[in-house]
Parts: sequence; C-alpha cells; structure tokens
Amino acid sequence: MTLNIQQFQQLARQCLSNDDATLEIELMLCQVLNKNRIFLRTWPETLLTETQLNQLNEYLQQRQQGVPLAYLLGERAFWTLNLTVNPDVLIPRSDTECVVEKVLALGQGKQWRVVDLGTGSGAIVLSIAKEHPEWVVVATDLYPQSLAIAQQNAEKNQIPNVEFVQGSWFEPLTGLFDCIVSNPPYIIENDPHLQALSHEPQRALVAAEQGLADLRHIVQLSGRFLYDQGYLVLEHGFDQGQAVRDLLQASGFSQIMTGQDFGGNDRYTVGQYVK
Ligand SMILES: C[S@@+](CC[C@H](N)C(=O)[O-])C[C@H]1O[C@@H](n2cnc3c(N)ncnc32)[C@H](O)[C@@H]1O
Repeated sequence: MTLNIQQFQQLARQCLSNDDATLEIELMLCQVLNKNRIFLRTWPETLLTETQLNQLNEYLQQRQQGVPLAYLLGERAFWTLNLTVNPDVLIPRSDTECVVEKVLALGQGKQWRVVDLGTGSGAIVLSIAKEHPEWVVVATDLYPQSLAIAQQNAEKNQIPNVEFVQGSWFEPLTGLFDCIVSNPPYIIENDPHLQALSHEPQRALVAAEQGLADLRHIVQLSGRFLYDQGYLVLEHGFDQGQAVRDLLQASGFSQIMTGQDFGGNDRYTVGQYVK
C-alpha cells in the first residue's frame, strides 16, 4: 500500500482515541521521516516508503497496547531540553516544569548550590543547570540505570555543571545546599491511576504511608543539609498539599506555601529553613 503523510495521518487518527493523538501521530512521523512538524504541514503529499510505513505501523500497534509514546520514540521534550527516556526512568511530566520555575524564581540573582533528589531522567536538575551554568548542581538517584540516563542527557544537552551521585536520598551527599528540590514517588499503593502507568517504573511512582513515606523522609532530613534560610521545594500529588505543609511545619520550616501546576492543581510545596 502506498500512503502519503496526510493519508497516514487520517488512517492513524482512526486507531488512536487519546486526546493528544494528533500530536502523537505528528511526532511519530517526525521521528520516522527525520523532519520537523513544519515539514509535515508544508509537504503533506510526501510519499512514505515501505520501511517508514512498517515502523509507523509498529508504533501505532504499541500505542494501542498502551506503551507510552515517549518510550517508543526514546525521547521527551521538557523545559528547553530534549531528554532521552527508557522504561528505567519516569517520563518527565510538563506539570513538573512548575517546580523548575519555582526554583529559578527563588534563586534569581543568587549564586546557589542545589541538589535534586531522585533525578530520574535528569529533567529537573538539567533544566536548572542549563539556566544557571554558574551554579553548583548535584543530582542523586538510588538506581544506577536512572543515573546513567540522566548523565547521558547531560551530555546530549551539553550541560557540564551537574555532579551525579548514586544512593538513597541524602546518603551520598556531603556539604550544605541553598536549595533542595525533589519530585519523589508519592502515589498510594493500589491507587487505580497506577493501571494507566503500568509501563513506567513503579519504584519511581509508589510510596508507602498513603504516598507520603518518601516526602516525609526528605522533609525530616532536609534541615541537616540546608544552609540557614535554605529552601526545600517538593513536588507532590494534587491532594497532598495540606499533608506536606504539615510535615514542613513540624520540621521547623517557615514561609511555607503550596503552588499549582498548569492545570490549576496543587503540585508543589516550598518551605524555608531557619536554623
Ligand atoms: C517521580 S520520579 C522523578 C524523576 C524526575 N526527577 C522527574 O521529575 O521526572 C522519582 C525518582 O526517585 C527515585 N528514587 C526512588 N527511591 C529513591 C531513593 N530511596 N533515593 C533516591 N532516589 C530514589 C526514582 O528512581 C525516580 O527516579
């Protein structure tokens, strides 16, 4: 069968029912053709080769089975970066960009030392380090496979000012920081939403104690690793704002506030540590 770009888009649209199917089909085409979206719109009559069609059909089948597009394409855009992703790391979410924005706003005009706990693909830490090549930036993750991807992303995006260290939360850290940022696992075990996330690593998603175990651990230890008046910025679930504010208050933080993501849901909480 011979198909051009536009014909493939029309057929593929009948196979995928998700809200962003049109964008996903464009991204599949961009990767297979090695062209950008402007090309697709400018040259919709371009004929697809048999090899290209086979690859596109394979993508469509896997998408129908629920494999996330980012894992099929091996990449995901985040902030100003193009990040390599595979099933060893969580696919970075655009909601996490509001955490990056907050850290950048707090640190504006300052010379900071920052750590990102549980860096995964490196989404948060690399976005911050790219905006501030003069900052000293550290990233941790428990899993060497995740750190390997984050390091690969640092190289791919030419961001040299990040040190990657492996270990559980604060374990591999030395010295003090002006800001600790983290997007730890925070989904409750048995949460029905986990079914839709079954292709992503559960160790990046699920936390015990109603999803609060890792958030609590990080809040309770952060004071030891912050300079006087240092900040803790934590991503959390849309319904965990009050619980995280309470944790920060109980651990001696002040100036506590919760911020919203682009969908208007509570998404992160910040506190300042005064020694
Ligand atoms: C929700 S993902 C966040 C990934 C990335 N920071 C992001 O925002 O896309 C949580 C990350 O925490 C890491 N993690 C889980 N338990 C950990 C631990 N005990 N110490 C350090 N990192 C851990 C996971 O490997 C995963 O990369």
